[in-house]
Amino acid sequence: MPKTDLKYTQLDASHLQKIYNLTQQMSSLGDEARMLDSLLDELMQETNAEVGAFIYYDAQSDQFEPRTIRSPFGANDQKVEFSSTVFKQVRSTKEAVLSFDTQQDATYQDSRSVIMNDIHAILAFPLIINAELYGILYFDSRRNRQSFNEVTRQFLSFFAVIASLALEQVLKKEQVEKENVALKNQLEQSPGIPDMVGKSAEMQNLFRLIRKVAQTDVPVIISGENGTGKDLVAQAIHKLSKRSKQPFIAQYIGNIPSSIVESELFGYKKGAFTGANSNKTGLFEAANGGTLFLDEIGDLHPDLQVKLLRVLQNHEIKRLGENTVRKVDVRIVTATNRDLVQMVKDGQFREDLYYRLNVINIMVPPLRDHSSDIPLLAEYFLKDSQMELSRAALSKLMQYHWPGNIRQLDNILKRATILAVGKRIEEEDIQLDMAESAPDSAPLEGTMEDIKNRVIRQRIEEFNGNKTHAAKSLNISLRSLQAKAKELGL
Ligand SMILES: Nc1ncnc2c1ncn2[C@@H]1O[C@H](COP(=O)(O)OP(=O)(O)OP(=O)(O)O)[C@@H](O)[C@H]1O
Ligand SMILES: [Mg+2]
Repeated sequence: MPKTDLKYTQLDASHLQKIYNLTQQMSSLGDEARMLDSLLDELMQETNAEVGAFIYYDAQSDQFEPRTIRSPFGANDQKVEFSSTVFKQVRSTKEAVLSFDTQQDATYQDSRSVIMNDIHAILAFPLIINAELYGILYFDSRRNRQSFNEVTRQFLSFFAVIASLALEQVLKKEQVEKENVALKNQLEQSPGIPDMVGKSAEMQNLFRLIRKVAQTDVPVIISGENGTGKDLVAQAIHKLSKRSKQPFIAQYIGNIPSSIVESELFGYKKGAFTGANSNKTGLFEAANGGTLFLDEIGDLHPDLQVKLLRVLQNHEIKRLGENTVRKVDVRIVTATNRDLVQMVKDGQFREDLYYRLNVINIMVPPLRDHSSDIPLLAEYFLKDSQMELSRAALSKLMQYHWPGNIRQLDNILKRATILAVGKRIEEEDIQLDMAESAPDSAPLEGTMEDIKNRVIRQRIEEFNGNKTHAAKSLNISLRSLQAKAKELGL
């Protein structure tokens, strides 16, 4: 049989219509297995073949793997034998193979399967994906030697090109779906939080909570000691939320005069007070659609506590000196290193506001509670300087109690990179402030009582008078620390 060149001279409109219909049908099925299945059924009818199969080609092992088989002996009969000679021919030419009189065809003289199975005609064509052989669609006829002709070959060759494209699309889609599942899984397993590192269970729990809270719009209070990462948590909640494209605005409230805080938050009308020379948009309005982060909420003046409560209830604000009510859609995130519960008990913070703000409370752990993260954090902070820590230096960091938490670690490492000679930070380059140094480095003078008192005094100082944190860092109750402090006149 002379090899006819690959032109589609004998195809007419009806063939094209058929190809169009088949492709439409294939594409609508959407997954590879079902697509090949239906393709095979249609083409069996079209070609009048006795045996048909999809043969997958595994390029790595150079093996041909029959996957979907149609034969008179029933579907997927593994007893059907194939001629690997044909497959190899398709693999090397990447073109359709047609043999009418297979028993006489010199190519198949040595093919045991062709002879044994009394195959009279073979039609095989390649499915090419990304310019590589993906598989072969194979048909043969074992009774009727006239079953295939040049028209069939042209029809199938042309169809194969289109089918390959359709299959490529489906495989791509399946690949993307698989990747999506993998990505989703990854997200759930190791939640990456922007700009935050930590592998300890404490930090992983924190990250999980951030991710969950970010999916909601509820108010959040972030509590934790100085330098634990409260700002980063607030930013992460925003960045991971659906508001991330809208503004994130932070306002520090601690020790700022309440009149300034008020005009910053609510804005004002020109002439509302002396010095109000023009209209001003407040931060609630500026943050509309996004997130407003109020830092050190414990310091909010009682008058402003009432006003904030109203915003949370009504989602409305009024600029100072104005009667117009403006709707705002703002997510409120707050932070504090003070003990708000105690403040509520002491009448310093409105209970109703506390409950409004505290729908979710995120506690950021002090560094001493997740000291296993210190090597990772140190590596993170030292990345740019390309410096490394000696074993002794690291162990010094691990033993410290970190009253200033992660910020202090960052600062101490910055100082160490300046002090270090060469690229390695040694133990003596780690300078823990004297006021912050561990008690065992101070001379042990006086009685046990004296030493205890000194430690308590030092801790309260280190935590800027915050007795809750000082007590926690010493692992004693707040009550006994307060009693001691009173005794010492602190
Ligand atoms: N998990 C973390 N990974 C990397 N860096 C961190 C992490 N947590 C905090 N930091 C860094 O530590 C420093 C202090 O963080 P941040 O300002 O968020 O703390 P804070 O709790 O808001 O402090 P403050 O109580 O003083 O307001 C920042 O430089 C921040 O980038
Ligand atoms: Mg902060």
